[in-house]
Amino acid sequence: MKNGLWWEREDLCYLDGRLQFAGQDVSSLTSQTAGPLYLYSAERVTRNLRRLTDALKQTGSAHQIYYAMKANRFVPLLEMIARTGLCGVDICSPGELDRALASGFAPSQISFTGTGVSGDDLDRLLQYPDVHINCDTIGMIRRIGERKPNSSIGIRVNPAMGTGYDDSEKLIYSGGGTTKFGIYREQWPEALAMVRKYGLMVNTLHFHVGCGYLSGQLDRWENAVKACASFLKDLPDIKTVNIGGGLGLPHRKDDEPLDFGQWADILSRHIGIESPYAGLTIAVEPGDFIVKDAGMLVLTVNDVEMKRGTLFAYVNGGFNLAPEPAFYDLPCEPVACIMPAANDDPLIPVTIAGNINEALDIWAIEHPMPNLHEGDFIAFINAGGYAASMASNHCMRGAATEFLV
Ligand SMILES: Cc1ncc(COP(=O)(O)O)c(C=O)c1O
Repeated sequence: MKNGLWWEREDLCYLDGRLQFAGQDVSSLTSQTAGPLYLYSAERVTRNLRRLTDALKQTGSAHQIYYAMKANRFVPLLEMIARTGLCGVDICSPGELDRALASGFAPSQISFTGTGVSGDDLDRLLQYPDVHINCDTIGMIRRIGERKPNSSIGIRVNPAMGTGYDDSEKLIYSGGGTTKFGIYREQWPEALAMVRKYGLMVNTLHFHVGCGYLSGQLDRWENAVKACASFLKDLPDIKTVNIGGGLGLPHRKDDEPLDFGQWADILSRHIGIESPYAGLTIAVEPGDFIVKDAGMLVLTVNDVEMKRGTLFAYVNGGFNLAPEPAFYDLPCEPVACIMPAANDDPLIPVTIAGNINEALDIWAIEHPMPNLHEGDFIAFINAGGYAASMASNHCMRGAATEFLV
């Protein structure tokens, strides 16, 4: 188990039993910080942006990436992403607008897709005519029309089908039960009437049907793409199809990475060069795919104790610092920062618990780990997305440091 662990890659691996990430020795770096530490790799983020750019090139269509900053809004990371010039930014609130602008994105590089959007939100957004806005409801189309008739907008549709990591209902944004996102097919005539009433031009069709999909979900994703493409024929001013985010990455040993060949092929056939809509730009707005595997949360073991046959290691941070494992069953695999040589110490099952007074505050159950001691460091990988950005101060244990390597 020492070599070829499923998550190991060139920039995340053991060297002489010490975990290395982004060219840094994780234990050495962590011992210079007090408390929980989020570590991010600029190089990995850039690499993920390049991997996605290459995948989009395979579609043969013009393309645009908007990084979904809800995944991680750490300013040095955003500034670094803006400097790459490889993408714009997807925002979902006026606060994110301010931060995107302050981090170096121009208004023309910003695309907004929000939910529960107020008139005040729109007043803030419309101060920047170059910021693109996708409407999530008919009411939002009306409120834009009232404020800025004859302008260009996008519309988010809900194809009533979707997919997400492991087909989990919690991660599907469209399909199954009725969801709050986007405009359904039966609302479409009313939406188009509202567009006409205010002389609006719909230049973008938007959909985002779930989070974390991998190759195993591509059949369901294709059905959703096909359903969304059927809205295009009613949009004479259409320039762009924004396919949302949701591109997944492996969280568990048996997860197969997303097959980009198949993914690009689906896009080409339904909205790209092999479809009746050849010539449109394909936009994509991933968060996780860009930043999640470019980050880890490093915690310290506070206590180790056997209770009724279960060996607990208690660490100095809980689910409040990375809520997705508890909320969505999207684990952040615990990785010992120091791994003894194979013949020194066999791995043993350890249940890793946080320091929050909630029963669900368990990082991993009976996970194979070396013999842990107080003061040891554990890295929770895949914590670059929706960890710090969703963190809370529950139990007043929210303090943590973020560091971009
Ligand atoms: C509209 C929209 N776009 C993009 C994203 C980013 O999703 P992900 O980080 O899964 O790629 C989300 C996430 O919730 C979203 O709601």
